[in-house]
Amino acid sequence: MTDELKQAAAEKALELVQDGMLIGLGSGTTARLFTEGLGRLVAEGRKVRGVPSSRETAELAAKLGIPIVTELLGQIDLAVDGADEVDPALNLIKGRGGALFREKLVAAASKRFVVVVDESKLVKQLGVGVLPVEVLPFLWRTTAERLAALGVSLVVRGGEETPYITDNGNLILDLTVEGGIANPAAFGVELKKVTGVVEHGLFVAMTDTVIVGGPEGPKAIGRGK
Ligand code: 5RP
Repeated sequence: MTDELKQAAAEKALELVQDGMLIGLGSGTTARLFTEGLGRLVAEGRKVRGVPSSRETAELAAKLGIPIVTELLGQIDLAVDGADEVDPALNLIKGRGGALFREKLVAAASKRFVVVVDESKLVKQLGVGVLPVEVLPFLWRTTAERLAALGVSLVVRGGEETPYITDNGNLILDLTVEGGIANPAAFGVELKKVTGVVEHGLFVAMTDTVIVGGPEGPKAIGRGK
């Protein structure tokens, strides 16, 4: 069922694609469905180019014949990506797929950022699950100590023996915030101040539209439905 809901959300996002657009391509299973759909449109003759947010998405886009752009001056017309959690203000947690840094760069460079999710991703408050934070491997334990001093617990993704390495050569620390994240904007600012933090998975005030796949069909929330 979840797969069908994700597919319906991705198909609805495909309706936003117009000829000539530069499109930010997200990462994860839901964003993949959008990219696959975009590949179909390209095969039918639609003229678009994509900015992939991970190596995996870049490989998929290349396989599907979507022209790829990796250097950019100006803005992306439309970016479509998934999310791990979406709160009522459309703030997000992203990065459980490990691509949060490039995903945030793509979203920040976009005129319109559209998030595609199934309804299980909607939460009252962010922090139900872990908050991924990308950190530099150099002296990462000291970074982890500074993060822990903010009152969170954390684990190295993949474990210390075989850590997960991001496309940027960094580590991911998965933070658990007891009681949830009451003020995502303020907490995001605190995280960015920590030396060694490259980027965090809180996407605050970046989302224009969320397309939610639910049993009654996909529903768009936010600006510019
Ligand atoms: C990857 C992400 C993904 O967009 C997020 O994890 C959602 O993935 P999925 O659609 O597979 O549930 O942020 O870094």
